[in-house]
Amino acid sequence: MQNPVRQLANWGFIVSGQKIMKEGLTFDDVLLIPKKSRVFSRKDVSLKIQFSRNIELSTPIVSANMDTVTESRMARFLAEAGGIGIIHRFLSIEQEVEEVKKVKRAENIVIDDPYTIYPHQTIAEARKIMGGDSVSGLLVVDEKKRLLGIITLRDILFENDDAKNVSEVMTKKVITAPVNISSSKAKEILHKYRIEKLPLVSKNGVVKGLITSKDILKKSQNSITSKDKKGRLLVGAAIGVKDDALARTKSLLDAGADAIVIDIAHGHNIRAMETVKILKKKFRGIEIIAGNVATAEGTIDLIKAGADAVKVGIGPGAACTTRVVTGVGVPQLTAIMDSVRAASKFGVPIIADGGVKNSGDFSKALAAGASSVMIGSLFAGTDEAPGEYIIEDGVAYKLYRGMASRDAAQDKIKLDASTGLSTGGGADGFSRSPEGKAGRVTYRGSAKNVIGDLIGGLRSSMSYLGAKNIKEFSQNAEFIKITPASFKEGQARN
Ligand code: XMP
Repeated sequence: MQNPVRQLANWGFIVSGQKIMKEGLTFDDVLLIPKKSRVFSRKDVSLKIQFSRNIELSTPIVSANMDTVTESRMARFLAEAGGIGIIHRFLSIEQEVEEVKKVKRAENIVIDDPYTIYPHQTIAEARKIMGGDSVSGLLVVDEKKRLLGIITLRDILFENDDAKNVSEVMTKKVITAPVNISSSKAKEILHKYRIEKLPLVSKNGVVKGLITSKDILKKSQNSITSKDKKGRLLVGAAIGVKDDALARTKSLLDAGADAIVIDIAHGHNIRAMETVKILKKKFRGIEIIAGNVATAEGTIDLIKAGADAVKVGIGPGAACTTRVVTGVGVPQLTAIMDSVRAASKFGVPIIADGGVKNSGDFSKALAAGASSVMIGSLFAGTDEAPGEYIIEDGVAYKLYRGMASRDAAQDKIKLDASTGLSTGGGADGFSRSPEGKAGRVTYRGSAKNVIGDLIGGLRSSMSYLGAKNIKEFSQNAEFIKITPASFKEGQARN
């Protein structure tokens, strides 16, 4: 029988001693070969994918769980666009829960827990609650949560005296409805009285919910929106594997998080596998995304522990320095392909995480078999990402930092000290070298522009490959390895 190492050498792998030096490729090393196509309209293709074992999405895009990328605003946007956003974990449990709740409140036709204010509070306070969350109105209640009135942005738009009490400007006569009202009946009332908000109250006037015309309209217009069984937007939330993993998971699930993402740099780690097993056992029906890994072995171990999807990528990200600092990593396209091959036997989807610079990379990740793609830096420059933009020399930027950067580690330590709980890695923020950098990215306006570019490029790519859906796309995909000269040839030169 032939020596297995020699056998691999015959197959083209370079063998050095007993270490097999396999070739690793990434997005810029390959192109997709065009195929005979029967796709006539780029709009004809379906982008539906399986995000995890039990969650389907209409758009294969996930926003990264990073503090310069995803909080509630980005997550809301992603869900409305048919994808999903993952709230980052460098927040106290309460803060992360609140971000999840904000998403869950956003497009349910019945908002279970509407924003309220007391009549003796000031207009300045009302503005603060509304401004921070783009909420256009607040229900005014007493201590027993009985409805007293409603105050909307319009009521205070031109009000100069912010010290006035809410009771002085609120609308006292409010049209209400009972809790179990149907959406068609609610629509009728909203139309009849030309109102935008319909508070739902119990027999004794206690606020039980709110229906808004905006949400009803959005619901009927947008069929790709990612929703849970109650019609609320989907959202994922990240946790670590340290001290507070259990408490954090419980609170996030209670708040309505649809997927829990175990977010650690090296997911092929006993601790990660144990965490998956414990969470699966403790929380019935939990959907767990585990990662990050870059090998078939890592993927299989996480799936065997119970992962419902595996996140793949060690060091390809725009803010990552893992490969430079540690010498560890697998070129992203090879990592995706190896993981997909391993995961397909179990029917578990792969999320390609990091390294996507344009719609070509995005398409290649899906062609390689990933079910969805996690995006960080491309989203970081948008309005929906946390943080303000800055203008320097007439150019607008936003901050983008690796979650393992020195910058982020410093903030984690402060946060852990203030909450008394570890956010999952903060305590040892400086016990290892930073593996990420902090910098800035060009401001890109709304995330709509980014999604439009990614989806537009993908649809074209699918039509070049004669694919009507993402499954066909990866089945039809044939990559050709290219040289530096071919890469150069592909770049615009004018
Ligand atoms: P892109 O390329 O889309 O990548 O910006 C986003 C992904 O990068 C990962 N990430 C890091 N990796 N050090 C790393 O090695 C870091 O500090 C870091 N921060 C984020 C993460 O997987 C994210 O989704």
